[in-house]
Amino acid sequence: MEKIFECVDLCKTFQKGRKRIEAVKNASFSIGKGEIISLVGESGSGKSTLANLMLRFLKPTGGEAFLDGKKIEDYRKKEYWKKVQAIFQDPFSSFNDFFSVKKILERAIKISSYPSPDPEERIREAVEAVNIRYEEICDKKPFELSGGQKQRLMIARIYLIKPELLIADEPTSMIDAVLRAGILELLLKLRGTTIMLITHDLALAYYISDRMLIMQNGRIVEEGEPQKILEAPEHPYTKKLIEDVPKLSEEWL
Ligand SMILES: Nc1ncnc2c1ncn2[C@@H]1O[C@H](COP(=O)(O)OP(=O)(O)O)[C@@H](O)[C@H]1O
Ligand SMILES: [Mg+2]
Repeated sequence: MEKIFECVDLCKTFQKGRKRIEAVKNASFSIGKGEIISLVGESGSGKSTLANLMLRFLKPTGGEAFLDGKKIEDYRKKEYWKKVQAIFQDPFSSFNDFFSVKKILERAIKISSYPSPDPEERIREAVEAVNIRYEEICDKKPFELSGGQKQRLMIARIYLIKPELLIADEPTSMIDAVLRAGILELLLKLRGTTIMLITHDLALAYYISDRMLIMQNGRIVEEGEPQKILEAPEHPYTKKLIEDVPKLSEEWL
C-alpha cells in the first residue's frame, strides 16, 4: 500500500514548572493511502497531542514526520493545511458565523486542490451527499443551523476540500447517539479519503477502521487490524480496554 504519512519516533514533552509531561513518546507508524486508521486510548493518553503534532499545531520535541515522503515542516503551512485537514471535538467552533453556508462551501472549493469549472454544481453534489437540501440552508449562517446540520456541513466541506489526510479528533464525543450514528455514516461516505479517527471508543474504532493504533501513557502499545486486535490482543492495556466494553467482548465477536 502506498504510504501517505509516516512518523518516526515522534515525541512531545511539556514542561510545566518543574513537572515534565511526556505526552507522546516515540510514536512511529505509517498511514496508507485511502486507509481509515484509528487511534484509541483513554483520556490523557496523548491522542490529541499526537494529532496536534501531525497537524503542525505543536512542534515535536523529538522525531520526524513525513507527508508523501517530504518532511512536514518543509511544506508551507498554508499548503500543508490544504492537504491535512482536521475535524475537532466541538463542531460548533469550526465555522465562521459571519459567512453564509454558500460562502463557506465556495471557500472550500477555492482552497481545495481540485478547482472546479462549475463550483455551484459541485457544492450541490456535496450538500446532497450528506442529505441536506441545498436551498434549505444555502443562505443561512452556521449559528442558524441545527447541530445535525452543522455536522453535515462539516462533512460536506471536507468532501469539497478533498484533503489527502483527514484527522478527526473525537468527532462524535459532543453529540448524542442518533447524531453519532449519522456522523459515522457520513464519515464512511468520505471513504477514499485517508482518515485518522481518534477516539476513546474501542467499539467505534472496531466498526469503522481498517487498522487500529492503541495508545497508553504517550506510547503506542499495539497496532493491527481491528479483528485481530479484538480476537487476540497482545498488550495488557488492550485487553483491559476490551474488557471495559462488555458488549464488545460478548456480542461483537
Ligand atoms: N499544552 C499542554 N501543556 C501541558 N500539558 C499538556 C498540554 N496538552 C496536553 N498536556 C498533557 O499531556 C497529556 C496528554 O494529553 P492529550 O494529548 O490531550 O490526551 P488525550 O487527547 O488522549 O486525552 C495529558 O497529561 C495532558 O494533561
Ligand atoms: Mg483528546
